[in-house]
Amino acid sequence: MKNCALQFSPTGGVKRVMDILASELSIDGQVDLSDPETDFSEVALDGDGVCLIGVPSFGGRVPGIAIERLRKTNGNGSATAVVCVFGNRAYEDTLLELKTEAEAAGYKVVAAIAAVAEHSIMRQHAKNRPDEADELELRGYAKEIQRLAADKDKAGDFTVPGNSPYKSYGGSSLKPKADESCLSCGLCAEKCPVQAIPKDNPALTENEKCISCMRCVAICPNGSRKLDEQTIIALTQATKKVFEGRKLNEMHS
Ligand SMILES: Cc1cc2nc3c(=O)[nH]c(=O)nc-3n(C[C@H](O)[C@H](O)[C@H](O)COP(=O)(O)O)c2cc1C
Repeated sequence: MKNCALQFSPTGGVKRVMDILASELSIDGQVDLSDPETDFSEVALDGDGVCLIGVPSFGGRVPGIAIERLRKTNGNGSATAVVCVFGNRAYEDTLLELKTEAEAAGYKVVAAIAAVAEHSIMRQHAKNRPDEADELELRGYAKEIQRLAADKDKAGDFTVPGNSPYKSYGGSSLKPKADESCLSCGLCAEKCPVQAIPKDNPALTENEKCISCMRCVAICPNGSRKLDEQTIIALTQATKKVFEGRKLNEMHS
């Protein structure tokens, strides 16, 4: 694979950011890190092209399953931009963790981007982002990635914000469930990145497997999968302050 994007995008925010970057970079290959059926040990880049790796920030960290799958791939020295997408709170150690893991898997990281997209749980935050202004900025980042990738051996070491050891993230207690309107179509079970929804009873959620990524809520054609409304109201109230203001996109290189 030459120019390739690897992404973990449960509800499409990461994908929107990645699509904007990819459209400027002639990306032709896609690796879906949310697909539990893919054998990621067969993913090997050819080393000549440009690569993008995109993940969301979950609790200031890279989702563990995305790391697990990324580790199986082989970057073969491909010039790579790592991209962390966050929902207008903070990305904390996500970008540092992603850069470190990508380098360990053989990707030559020439740039690191943090970009804002609509929050996948509390959708009122960063609503409709990336917007037009984000798109303009991201297209500029892509041009810079192209330039850095052409000279990847000269691309110096650079630091990105974040701390090591990384902040601890034990997962979220928010587990979506289907209500009585569920038609058991099975789409959620098929598309769950961690197979936490039993195919023979898609109204259920296996809480210990569920990573609260919200894909099932986002894709249910009947709007049947939901989080507890009162919990979301309380969470929205309690976290109001940390979401204030328009958070900015960043690129480090
Ligand atoms: C479980 C979970 C944890 C999250 N934690 C954070 C966070 O710590 N900071 C933040 O700004 N956004 C956070 N978000 C929002 C996502 O990072 C953001 O909405 C991202 O665009 C989701 O990507 P996706 O739409 O591709 O699934 C979280 C979302 C989920 C589902």
